[in-house]
Amino acid sequence: MRQTVNVSEEESARQLSFAGLLKDELDERKQKENREFTYHIETFGCQMNAKDSEKLAGILETIGYKETESENADIVLYNTCTVRENANNRVYGRIGYLGKLKKKKPDMKIILCGCMMQEAHVVEKIKQSYRFVDIIFGTHNIYKLAELLYENENKGDGGICIEILPDADRIVENLPSARKYSFKGGVNIMYGCNNFCSYCIVPYVRGRERSRRPEDIINEIREMTKNGVSEIMLLGQNVNSYGKGLEEDINFAKLLEKVCTVEGVKRIRFMTPHPKDLTDDIIEVIAREQKICNHVHLPMQSGSSRLLKLMNRHYTKEDYLALTEKIKARIPGVALTTDIIVGFPGETEEDFLETLDVVKKVRFSSAFTFIYSKRTGTPAAKMPDQVPEDVVKQRFDRLLKAISDISSELTDEGVGSIENVLVEEPSTQKEGYVTGRLANNLLVHFEGDESLLGSYVDVKLLEAKGFYYLGKRV
Ligand code: SAH
Ligand code: SF4
Ligand code: F3S
Repeated sequence: MRQTVNVSEEESARQLSFAGLLKDELDERKQKENREFTYHIETFGCQMNAKDSEKLAGILETIGYKETESENADIVLYNTCTVRENANNRVYGRIGYLGKLKKKKPDMKIILCGCMMQEAHVVEKIKQSYRFVDIIFGTHNIYKLAELLYENENKGDGGICIEILPDADRIVENLPSARKYSFKGGVNIMYGCNNFCSYCIVPYVRGRERSRRPEDIINEIREMTKNGVSEIMLLGQNVNSYGKGLEEDINFAKLLEKVCTVEGVKRIRFMTPHPKDLTDDIIEVIAREQKICNHVHLPMQSGSSRLLKLMNRHYTKEDYLALTEKIKARIPGVALTTDIIVGFPGETEEDFLETLDVVKKVRFSSAFTFIYSKRTGTPAAKMPDQVPEDVVKQRFDRLLKAISDISSELTDEGVGSIENVLVEEPSTQKEGYVTGRLANNLLVHFEGDESLLGSYVDVKLLEAKGFYYLGKRV
């Protein structure tokens, strides 16, 4: 079934006109009070969430707000995540704290958005217990921040301004974005997810899968490289199902090829591919194109075929092992990383041992491990045999140990080699050092100063420290 994607270029112009009106108002206030006005954005979720925060920051900067690290700002915006239950509890605690800040600073605007706000019971709870919140919106209308701020400031009834859309009505192009780094950045290639893994809430809060037009993606990347960006991270919940519903005959492999041709792009990464859609043409393009980093993050979730079926993942343990073998054979030196869930309903010791078995066979260079969290509304929440907490904890610790033993072995193997790295940050480990990222995503700390940030240098890896290296510029 072909489903067309509705794209709006006019909407960004409309939003920028609201931003213009707000800018005039803010300029007056700046003059009157003779000070800067600030915003603070807290991002709770994944890369998609972080990318949304950059767009929200772009709108606030267009209005004339300056970013601050402090929560004692004129606008505080929480971009929330709801993938696991404990994330939600943390957010409620933090909102309570914002309420106290606002008592001392009554003009402060508190804005909540992101995945958690797509859940009706969350919005209900905020309406009941956190009446000091000013604006709430969801994942499908982040482009409307300026309009909602304008409405809130000019309606003046003191109530919470709420707009949650059940699904996205369109893709809005040409919005400003304030990137966190000047030399690397994420680009959405698709939004939403159609996979409905049985434990996962993302498809309910991010809506149906929709791909951006290739020309919009390439234009955005061109703009980024003009502004000094050299490393591009292509973002989506399932990047390798890219292209469905578009007029052009395109898929993820072809998109990767197109991105490689953009002048100024030196490194390409992508997040997250799904094992069921990782076709040979994608593996071939990664193997062939030097610009595409030799790192594949490939969430496995479990090593038990029985659980994978219950999780609705559409592959078996054997499929996953065969796929990773193929990737390793075709892309020499590739680093594989993954996501694993421990304690999915009904997980037995045997199921868990299957997971450990895959971990040992694939030898992941690192892995994100999660304790299963029951998300109301997902099919897994109704499954019997939720695993007792102490059993899960014990398995989780065993898994962590297995993963960290293997990743140390792998980093040890890299010692002595010379690698080209992108220098990303001053090192948090050592004074007078900077941190560079290898193509395989590992980090190396080496002597250097801030003038190196954003450049590519060759570094000899001298010492392995588990998850990272100490090195020396050569
Ligand atoms: N689309 C991506 C990212 C999804 S969220 C993907 O498919 O990989 C990131 C990770 O959170 C998932 O890979 C999964 O390991 C974990 N996760 C999702 N729902 C969870 C839940 N209910 N409990 C525990 N971990 C979960
Ligand atoms: Fe969630 Fe599965 Fe979609 Fe990833 S692919 S976002 S785990 S439903
Ligand atoms: Fe969280 Fe939403 Fe990402 S639930 S993991 S912020 S898509």
